[in-house]
Amino acid sequence: MAWRLYLSLKNKYIATAGPCFNNRLMTSQFITVEGIEGAGKTTQLAFIREVLEAAGKKVLPTREPGGTVLGEEIRSLLLQQRQQGMTAEAELLLLFAARAEHLHQVIRPALASGIWVLCDRFTEASYAYQGGGRGIAWERIAVLENWVQGELRPDLTLLFDLSAEQGLARAGRRGLMDRFESEELAFFQRVRNAYLEQASRHPDRYRIVDASRSVAVVRAEVEAILHPFLRESV
Ligand SMILES: Nc1ncnc2c1ncn2[C@@H]1O[C@H](COP(=O)(O)OP(=O)(O)OP(=O)(O)O)[C@@H](O)[C@H]1O
Ligand SMILES: [Mg+2]
Repeated sequence: MAWRLYLSLKNKYIATAGPCFNNRLMTSQFITVEGIEGAGKTTQLAFIREVLEAAGKKVLPTREPGGTVLGEEIRSLLLQQRQQGMTAEAELLLLFAARAEHLHQVIRPALASGIWVLCDRFTEASYAYQGGGRGIAWERIAVLENWVQGELRPDLTLLFDLSAEQGLARAGRRGLMDRFESEELAFFQRVRNAYLEQASRHPDRYRIVDASRSVAVVRAEVEAILHPFLRESV
């Protein structure tokens, strides 16, 4: 009988899956880390993963641009020094092409199966770099964001905030510079300001972390942000 079939399906899928929104499980969360070069995103991302896994979450760490075969190829194009003449528009569109692929192949399927996605940079970086840094109007970026993402936005964005001087000094220690890292100081100051402006527009999902402090102090603050967030999203 239909209702028996409904009940067995409900028990099998709906009860275990929990409430759904925007084609994803409410139990999975989409967390992004942002900030200029050398802010400590990759360093802290490993720690965030540990905290989430210790709390019993399944976590998928990924990055942008990248995260798929096509995305990683686009990343290498974007970072190549020999692409110096690339227009800001081509740069933005390549980033969103990689993002469309990433969302389709990786991010949405993971969220739909209850996995927490932890992404090293996302669309907020397009607002900061191609918007603030290169001067593309945010309204134009928003059109691509709405087209490619629909309603999907990060649940939490940790913005590691640092002066451009400090960030570049840290990143410079790694040696060879990519196409973005070769930009002038003023570019990174505009990027930082754009990030801070974005954070002030979306205080509900952004948390600003002062990244000028030691790794251990930054870690402690990240943990303090994550714990209540973990409790809320059980
Ligand atoms: N709080 C900190 N204090 C001092 N050094 C740090 C701190 N956090 C990270 N570092 C060091 O700074 C360098 C850059 O850190 P990391 O690679 O995590 O930055 P990032 O934000 O991922 O940079 P990028 O955008 O270039 O990938 C590394 O050598 C790292 O060990
Ligand atoms: Mg990094």
